[in-house]
Amino acid sequence: MSAFTENIQFDREDIEFAVPVDLPQELEEELQRLEKSFTVDTATLKKISKRFGEELKAGLERDADIPMNVTWVTAFPTGQERGTYLTIDLGGTNLRICLITLNDEPGGSDVKQEKYPLAAEIKTGAADDLFSHIADRLGEFVKKHVKDDEAKDEEGKVPLGFTFSYPATQHRIDHGILQTWTKGWDVDGVEGNDVADLLNKAIQKRNLPVKLVALVNDTTGALIASAYNDPDTIIGAVFGTGCNAAYMERVSQIPKLKGKGTTADSDASTATSEQSRAQKDDPLMAINCEYGAFDNSHEILPRTRYDELIDEQSPRPGEQTFEKMSAGLYLGEILRLILVDLRDNQLFFTSAKLTDEQNKALETPYILDTEFLANLENDGSESLSDSKSAFQKFLADLTPSFDELRFSQALAKLIAIRGARLCACGASAICSRIGTRYGHVAADGSMAVKHPRFKERWEDAVREILDMRMGALGHEGIELTNAEDGSGVGAAVICALTLGRTSSKDGGGGKVDGTH
Ligand code: BGC
Repeated sequence: MSAFTENIQFDREDIEFAVPVDLPQELEEELQRLEKSFTVDTATLKKISKRFGEELKAGLERDADIPMNVTWVTAFPTGQERGTYLTIDLGGTNLRICLITLNDEPGGSDVKQEKYPLAAEIKTGAADDLFSHIADRLGEFVKKHVKDDEAKDEEGKVPLGFTFSYPATQHRIDHGILQTWTKGWDVDGVEGNDVADLLNKAIQKRNLPVKLVALVNDTTGALIASAYNDPDTIIGAVFGTGCNAAYMERVSQIPKLKGKGTTADSDASTATSEQSRAQKDDPLMAINCEYGAFDNSHEILPRTRYDELIDEQSPRPGEQTFEKMSAGLYLGEILRLILVDLRDNQLFFTSAKLTDEQNKALETPYILDTEFLANLENDGSESLSDSKSAFQKFLADLTPSFDELRFSQALAKLIAIRGARLCACGASAICSRIGTRYGHVAADGSMAVKHPRFKERWEDAVREILDMRMGALGHEGIELTNAEDGSGVGAAVICALTLGRTSSKDGGGGKVDGTH
């Protein structure tokens, strides 16, 4: 154990420790300082998770930092959902369009898909350019892949599920007003407007044989696609460029739905006391938490000055506080900001003067991505040669010394561990809220899928927060599973649920009532 981990309190003895030893004293002291500010011990995790629970509850009651968006997805799938659907996923780097047939295998699907690159300018351009681009690509896709009339409804239109992974207020399932852009997007003329309407107008202008049936968040898609195959799924989560989760809540526990024609109009307080209340009297509603906005009031998260800088320099300062500390978009940037600081304090890059080009590269926001961070951490070679090449590649041939490489590797580890442990707080708070200690959190996103140690770190932290023993016997344990294709199959299943298309009439998964 290195000297500077001694004071940190963890409940579990086998928790990993982050940093190498035998660095020159100045660097070692600096690393100690950073380790202190990036370490979130068990007690802090528990406090954060408790506060998280309070904010989740507030969002179900009223307008609050965590919006707890009602999705109008009111049932888990049964695996009997059927039909053919178009789906659109507006991702960070690509626009993905699919034609998906939910086939006769329970939980099965056939997928035809195309990916279209999204130019960076689109993400910060004008609404018309964005929705024209989507509708133009959709037109091309339909021409190429929708060959027969089978997929079309009685109006001659193919139902469409649109996965839009940003916070939207939904009064119906085929509608959604963008609350705010996140993840660095900043398209003019969309916030405060109905994105379903903007897409519909672009579709109608081109006369495409398509009808938007459902607007879906990626987390709700992950929840439903995964539950379609795995009945133990309790939460759909995304740990990628952004972070967020969706889960099923009882309508009686969503006071802000009162007066909207749902069973929340009956008294929520009596609902909790009537444990035996039949499910049909207290139906489910998928909630897209949008918990990236947790702690926007800056009361509990241990923010460092680098987190503050990321926020100040983002297009929406003051928003998505939690996301900016834990999601993939930001982790590489945190590392870069620290490296700049180390350079400015003459602790790093001192042996040879950096060229103007190298300084410029190092000062370029978001030049180091999360993959860079993960590769740096996982470089097992003695000389850290792969990491050296990565620095050279990304930063105009900048060649760190071996000590700087070891320091950077420790840093990458600290940042990734903090990210995974913070991510565990959201899911733990949801589990506490719904009173479950067993189930699968179906996760998508680059951190969950590509970072080799994320799962283990996340699961360890959940156990610490919920006081679970490692390998507990019986029905106890929250496991991180790989989500099924939420923005494709998930969106298609949600369309089927919305339209009430199942292989058997009484096959469950009843029609979603999104018309309140
Ligand atoms: C968005 C969410 C989304 C998450 C993961 C966040 O920035 O606001 O809607 O689910 O990223 O993609």
